[in-house]
Amino acid sequence: MNGVVLRRARDEDLDALYMIDKVCFPRHHFSKYFIRLLLEYPSSVAIVAMISSRIVGFTIGVIEDENESRIYTIGVLPDFRRRGIGRLLLEKLEEELARQGAVKCRLEVMEGNIPALQLYSKMGYHRLGVIRRYYGDKDGIVMEKVLKPLRTA
Ligand SMILES: CC(C)(COP(=O)(O)OP(=O)(O)OC[C@H]1O[C@@H](n2cnc3c(N)ncnc32)[C@H](O)[C@@H]1OP(=O)(O)O)[C@@H](O)C(=O)NCCC(=O)NCCS
Repeated sequence: MNGVVLRRARDEDLDALYMIDKVCFPRHHFSKYFIRLLLEYPSSVAIVAMISSRIVGFTIGVIEDENESRIYTIGVLPDFRRRGIGRLLLEKLEEELARQGAVKCRLEVMEGNIPALQLYSKMGYHRLGVIRRYYGDKDGIVMEKVLKPLRTA
């Protein structure tokens, strides 16, 4: 999409990421402390999407062992949705995770979250199973994708 700049997140982005997470997940957002931990985690990859110098979306993934990575969050501010930004964020995150050696990527998504389920299906994720009551009264759908190999070293 024109005008979108993707870059790695920085420490000073923390307040913006927390605000976006709160807007995107009013009932299940992460604490600022947890987002900071994710940003500082040695094998995390955090990408922000910017339009006119404003952060409008972000995603964070972590390589949890040698081969497997997990997406912890992805969100785009409501006014900027359906413009391809979620897809761009996910593509960039997968690329960076694969570059660092991840072979697979896994995530959980709330049952009935049609935008996210559609995005993930379109991006090649397949359904692995269900975690009952993962989101309080709602189930979590576990999805996974085999990443394109990209390790450089
Ligand atoms: C899920 C989310 C990140 C998608 O971001 P986005 O920038 O709007 O997504 P894109 O514009 O890149 O859409 C890519 C594809 O996803 C699907 N999609 C996105 N929004 C959709 C919607 N409202 N309804 C149906 N499909 C949708 C479509 O297949 C779309 O492709 P298309 O536009 O060519 O039809 C965004 O809706 C969001 O932030 N939601 C709240 C947070 C959330 O639920 N995150 C996921 C947690 S698991």
